[in-house]
Amino acid sequence: MNIERPIVEVRDLHTEEIPAAVRLLARGFRDEPLQIASLGPDPERRHQRLKVLFAAMFEIMKGQTPLVALDGETMVGVTGVAPPGSCQPTVAQLLKYGPALFPIGPRSLVRSARLNRTWGSVDPKEPHSHLGPLAVDADLRGRGIGSQILGHYCLRLDDAKLIGYLETDSEAKVRLYQRFGFKVVREQLVIGVPNWFMMRRI
Ligand SMILES: CC(C)(COP(=O)(O)OP(=O)(O)OC[C@H]1O[C@@H](n2cnc3c(N)ncnc32)[C@H](O)[C@@H]1OP(=O)(O)O)[C@@H](O)C(=O)NCCC(=O)NCCS
Repeated sequence: MNIERPIVEVRDLHTEEIPAAVRLLARGFRDEPLQIASLGPDPERRHQRLKVLFAAMFEIMKGQTPLVALDGETMVGVTGVAPPGSCQPTVAQLLKYGPALFPIGPRSLVRSARLNRTWGSVDPKEPHSHLGPLAVDADLRGRGIGSQILGHYCLRLDDAKLIGYLETDSEAKVRLYQRFGFKVVREQLVIGVPNWFMMRRI
């Protein structure tokens, strides 16, 4: 894998691109361990539920500064980026947008809430930029697109002298993030799935 040679264009996500980003994230996360545990065994249901969840995320987290990877006109990767102080939704935001999540069903809602509550409870107190959700379309993985997004993100962290932070759910992903200077600061089972919490200091 050569991460020096640009494969795609990485830039800020434009507001009008949010629906396409939601679709990409929903496809991208459909078969990942945490999503299987939180949204159930049926892949198509998970896909539909993820569309609801990611659409709500963009509504709730207005402060997001997501990045997108484009191959020509085609969106091939996207990541959420929450600037310092904006990675946890406020109670007012949850009350306002919570009902939009009802279509995912009670079991998925409870498990997703547990997942987010656990992540929130261990979120670093230090000001940090929060990476994720990050996804590359399944048929394009392993070609360096995710690395290019991460490289771009880390340059921004360095420029702003910011700590980066993320949660992830597989050892392969831990190895990917380690290449960009993230270190595991905590390991914990969350809704029955091993989670790694990773930080990148300046
Ligand atoms: C994680 C992800 C964004 C990486 O994007 P990518 O374009 O495949 O990344 P790269 O090609 O730059 O790097 C691939 C590396 O990531 C690791 N990786 C993790 N999950 C992978 C997957 N599902 N497919 C391919 N590589 C994966 C591999 O170990 C690989 O390392 P290698 O080059 O030593 O083999 C992508 O796999 C993805 O969208 N996964 C599903 C959603 C997800 O889990 N996102 C991360 C949540 S924390």
